[in-house]
Amino acid sequence: MAAINHNDLNRKHVVVLGAGVVGLTTAIQLQEVGDYKVTIVADILPSDPKDIRYTSQWAGGHHVSLAGNNERQAKWDRDTFDVMWDLSKPGGDAEGCFMRLPQTEFFDPNTNKSSALAHMPDFQSVAKDDLVPGSDAGVTFSTVTIDVPKYLNYLAARFLGRGGTLLRGSVQHISQIIEGGPRACIPSPRTTTVPDVVDALVVCVGLGARSLGGVEDSNVYPIRGQTVLLRAPWVKIGCTIAKPTSDGGAIWTYIIPRRSGDVIVGGTLEPNDWYPVPRPETTEDILKRTLALCPELAPPEARANGRQPTVADLRPLIIEGGCGLRPGRQGGIRVELEWYSRGDGQGRTPVIHNYGHAGYGYISSWGTATEAMELVVAALRRPRL
Ligand SMILES: Cc1cc2nc3c(=O)[nH]c(=O)nc-3n(C[C@H](O)[C@H](O)[C@H](O)COP(=O)(O)OP(=O)(O)OC[C@H]3O[C@@H](n4cnc5c(N)ncnc54)[C@H](O)[C@@H]3O)c2cc1C
Ligand SMILES: *[C@@H]1O[C@H](CO)[C@@H](O)[C@H](O)[C@H]1NC(C)=O
Repeated sequence: MAAINHNDLNRKHVVVLGAGVVGLTTAIQLQEVGDYKVTIVADILPSDPKDIRYTSQWAGGHHVSLAGNNERQAKWDRDTFDVMWDLSKPGGDAEGCFMRLPQTEFFDPNTNKSSALAHMPDFQSVAKDDLVPGSDAGVTFSTVTIDVPKYLNYLAARFLGRGGTLLRGSVQHISQIIEGGPRACIPSPRTTTVPDVVDALVVCVGLGARSLGGVEDSNVYPIRGQTVLLRAPWVKIGCTIAKPTSDGGAIWTYIIPRRSGDVIVGGTLEPNDWYPVPRPETTEDILKRTLALCPELAPPEARANGRQPTVADLRPLIIEGGCGLRPGRQGGIRVELEWYSRGDGQGRTPVIHNYGHAGYGYISSWGTATEAMELVVAALRRPRL
């Protein structure tokens, strides 16, 4: 028999639905700050093979805020950066998941998001002479990139190490968890002793919020992003250029080196495109665009004696192509409390939403997790209705 922690008897039980970066970070905040007993239920888990239904495995990912003048988003992003800067410091808790590096963002007046970046370490404007073709301004600063598969497993290990339970299960409607408990939603309920009573449910299902029963948020839609993963350990600088398109959008081209020596290059922003595998012609286009932005992607020998590298120099470096579906949402990220009326007439259960992180789920993960945790605390402080 496992020893029973007597504290467990008084602690409220919060279930987090979803095990992407948002669900894991939220679950950790609920444990470490909220002091709840926390169970995560998700159909795809961090150590699973990459899957189109789990966006977090496909991210670049770097911390470069896209919040511009959106102050709510900018604060979430700043709060998250502070946590990641600390985790990534030499000797920090998750140093091996991050690389600290110099970052340059090139833009023009229509794609200028630099107002939310002015607080970054070593922030400076790029001198006119150092601008790349197609940009008319730029900023440099220091930030982190995230080795996302490693970081997801770090978060899962931290959650489990604190006594959390991670269950594989598929949920069709939030009532199944709230009224039936997590065991009603997993294939082998006898393998776990998690309580059936759910004091609060936190919904961190990303794109799943569009179809999950009881949420069915029609503001949520996919924004497809395609990338190429390269082996190029000589690249130690991150770079993005955002070029405006005639329809008011932008083409983003970026280079994100990871601590491991792998480099993710991209990308695309394709709203309402559900296509689940890389398109070969897009891979070619990404290689062309990224090489033009950063010739240093090519191996040093391909650039020796002033030689101009070509896309052919990049092909041998390819590890894999990738694509993921960012959980976009009209109106931005939803962090909000709702009350669910139970069918058994036993009152109401708080449901806290935390989804719709689009292309900034890592960038805003700690900020939104803290706000979601605070909504749980406020809701559970009230007597059970
Ligand atoms: C190419 C690309 C590059 C990106 N680059 C960056 C970057 O540099 N920086 C950055 O911050 N972000 C980046 N992003 C965005 C980032 O990946 C997302 O914002 C983030 O992963 C969203 O995380 P999530 O936890 O909300 O969703 P997900 O990672 O999709 O997790 C959803 C979880 O919910 C579970 N789930 C859903 N529905 C159900 C259900 N009905 N029952 C049970 N479980 C369910 C899933 O199994 C999964 O565990 C990028 C994305 C792409 C595609
Ligand atoms: C970008 O926007 C910020 C604030 O919105 C402004 O201060 C800055 O001058 C702009 N930069 C350029 C090059 O337009």
